[in-house]
Amino acid sequence: MSQKGDLNKIENRIIELRKQLHHHNHLYYNVVEPVISDKEFDILLKELEELERQYPQFGDPLSPTQRPGGDPVDGFEKVVHVHPMLSLSNTYNSEEVEDWMNRVEKGLEGEEIVYVMELKYDGVAISLLYENGRLQKGITRGDGVTGEDVTSNVKTIRTIPLVLKEGAPEKLEIRGEIFYPFEDFNRLNAQREENGEQVFANPRNTAAGSLKMQDSRIVASRKLDCMMYSVMDSIGVDSHSKAVEKAGDWGFKNPKPTDNMISTSKDANGVMSFIEFWDKERHNLPFAIDGVVIKVDKYDQQERLGLTSKSPRWAISYKFETERVLTKLEKVTYQVGRTGAITPVANLSPVQLGGTTVRRASLHNADQIAKLDLHNDDMVYVEKGGEIIPKIVDVDLNARKGSVDMFGSIKFPYECPECSSTLVREEGEAAHYCPNSEGCPPQISGRIIHFIGRKSMNIDGLGSETVVQLVEAGLITDVSSLYELREADLLPLERMAERSVQKLLNGIKYSTEVPFERVLFSLGIRFVGETVAKKLAKSFRNMNTLMSASKEELEAVDEIGERIAISLLDFFSIEKNTNLIRRLEGFGLQMAKEEEDGATDKLAGLSIVVSGVFQTIDRTSLKKLIEFNGGKVSSSISKKTSFIVAGDKMGPSKKEKAEKLGVSIITEQEFLDKL
Ligand code: IVH
Repeated sequence: MSQKGDLNKIENRIIELRKQLHHHNHLYYNVVEPVISDKEFDILLKELEELERQYPQFGDPLSPTQRPGGDPVDGFEKVVHVHPMLSLSNTYNSEEVEDWMNRVEKGLEGEEIVYVMELKYDGVAISLLYENGRLQKGITRGDGVTGEDVTSNVKTIRTIPLVLKEGAPEKLEIRGEIFYPFEDFNRLNAQREENGEQVFANPRNTAAGSLKMQDSRIVASRKLDCMMYSVMDSIGVDSHSKAVEKAGDWGFKNPKPTDNMISTSKDANGVMSFIEFWDKERHNLPFAIDGVVIKVDKYDQQERLGLTSKSPRWAISYKFETERVLTKLEKVTYQVGRTGAITPVANLSPVQLGGTTVRRASLHNADQIAKLDLHNDDMVYVEKGGEIIPKIVDVDLNARKGSVDMFGSIKFPYECPECSSTLVREEGEAAHYCPNSEGCPPQISGRIIHFIGRKSMNIDGLGSETVVQLVEAGLITDVSSLYELREADLLPLERMAERSVQKLLNGIKYSTEVPFERVLFSLGIRFVGETVAKKLAKSFRNMNTLMSASKEELEAVDEIGERIAISLLDFFSIEKNTNLIRRLEGFGLQMAKEEEDGATDKLAGLSIVVSGVFQTIDRTSLKKLIEFNGGKVSSSISKKTSFIVAGDKMGPSKKEKAEKLGVSIITEQEFLDKL
């Protein structure tokens, strides 16, 4: 067959693969009934990725391979909405809903009216523009008239189709709500906590913030979701409920009558029972809603009712009451985390809220305390909104006894509540920190507790209470001192019988087998979570190479940006940290990745400098090859250098230095032959 024929075949295969993958993506994320396994999906995706790599001329920015996000963008373009994005007027009780229904009925002069009820998703509005079935733009609401083009981020959301199924109109605008499901939001926060980062306050703000990120790869890692709620173009149906159903056929995630997420009624009873149902049931949804939206279903009636300047007359929202209780603020205590960050916690008189007893509420930071102007013994309003941890939203000023009590206001402490060091707050940071990382007990125990955790060194027989006990008894001061513990140190401690001591010591002993990537994670370096540790271990293979890596070398690793690189460089620039690593190495912890098959120690003990541009192998692979065979890559020439592998354009000063020190220079071919 001709070359052209071959190319045609390849292009057709690419098109077919994309079609299949879009379809399976829809079945998996929107219909939630996949018909192929994840593995089968991955095989198709890999085939497509490979073909697109080999034949870039058939590239498509809307290919299913493009979901992981692309290179960062500089700012977002402003776009004027075709139809302004209005808001809804709110109602808060059945009378207000009935008043609105009466107004609608009056406006339509006795016609039969069908109302359609949906959930009010608590996220951020998005306008999605399609042409010929292909996503052109995703635009935020902005001020309602002009929004921002956040297409690069929108494309990472799996429940938003990139290419519509057959039958969709040539031009289409769909509106919907992007939100962060609880499970993924909680997972993100747990990960942030583990990495020593500040946790996000609630899913809505995090979804909004994510959508405005410059780097869509980060957005892709946050599993945002999207539910459509409006079809803006005429599509040959006469009602909203029919349009919503159609949108589902084209590939959008839509509410279904079978889940009672959308329902119709001709009277107030039906509307109110939908509201009452979801007021209770909302706590069982996997995402946050803050009410119900009620719309007139028929498009021609919507048109006749028209709009006011801010909102349509044909729709209204019913806002659920956020559960709120009044209770007494007993006192504010301050927790010190392993990174030294101070978190204020409100201790409350126990009170029932949303089915649980609440004793504590988060206060986030000093600004929050100042904003609420909290005083000791204040009566405070506590809410459980989209947040998981309840928060104080207001103070009952009437309940504050006496006149203005200047000394009663709660002042954020100047000193660490645990070790009395003066707290610091860096510019632009919301949190205060205790700088005494070496002497502050909760920071010491916090680091050790992180080190022994299940995902870290997984030391059996040692729990956080015992760690605190050991730190308080002065038996351990950092993670390395765990490896010096002896039976005689432990037996005198409370709750330490011989068997538990043995179990603990065995747990410590076996932890020396834990693989390098987990050792790296266990060190608790800021922003180095499990995934980052794995990536670093894979690229740098061992601790020495990682410790001597430059900022550029670190940033060259997939998903490692400047923030992580700087954190690593900072950590390794501190002598006590490098000393700690040396001590851990001395105790036998794994400081190198176990070599895969084919690894050798042919270059063991050799220190090799790589310089210049190479013909048959790229620099990074060459360095990896050296390390893979047990050699050490060094960046500068010294007496200790075993030899230099030189490519083209090796600098003259390096050449001179090598000659001066008598270090031999070999070509890349000579090196490869040698291996
Ligand atoms: S219909 C004229 N339906 O609520 C606006 N909006 O205050 C018509 N929202 O910005 C919007 N769930 O982002 C509609 N089922 C739903 C909704 C919904 C959430 C948001 C939307 C809008 C805001 C209106």
